[in-house]
Amino acid sequence: MALLPILCYPDPKLHTKAKPVEDFGARLRTLIDDMLVTMYSAKGIGLAATQVNVHEQLIVIDVSDRRNNPLVLVNPRQVWSSDETQFSEEGCLSVPGIYDQVLRHACVKVEAQDSQGRQRLMEAESLLAVCIQHEMDHLLGKVFVEYLSMLKRKRIKTKMLKAQRENHE
Ligand code: NI
Repeated sequence: MALLPILCYPDPKLHTKAKPVEDFGARLRTLIDDMLVTMYSAKGIGLAATQVNVHEQLIVIDVSDRRNNPLVLVNPRQVWSSDETQFSEEGCLSVPGIYDQVLRHACVKVEAQDSQGRQRLMEAESLLAVCIQHEMDHLLGKVFVEYLSMLKRKRIKTKMLKAQRENHE
């Protein structure tokens, strides 16, 4: 298993739209293992393949307190969302150190395949629902800061670029 490098905002590659996964072979299993190790190591609760520069519809999530309940969603499709919405604080491994309030559906129903290609329907609420919507956005090339005001986004961009320059010195 390998730790994968995570793309950092405002890397334009984060705006790539992911293609469906078609091959459920050994390569996919390795990618899932690597993404889980990368997510746990970075102390994240979710990671989309887009963030590790693989532009396929795959996300891994673990919102459990004990970090022992990994969820793998391949080719996820949102089939229903509640009218009820709620703000909650989000962060992202691709935008380190930035947290802000984002409005999301309170509940969602998602159809997805598991690592073996079996189709599943799941219903999610609270933190899991937020996480699924956040990660599915990544697959569409959308980063959570795009929900924030232009001014905030500009500040975040400047801050990220400055931090990236300092890391390279
Ligand atoms: Ni994210």
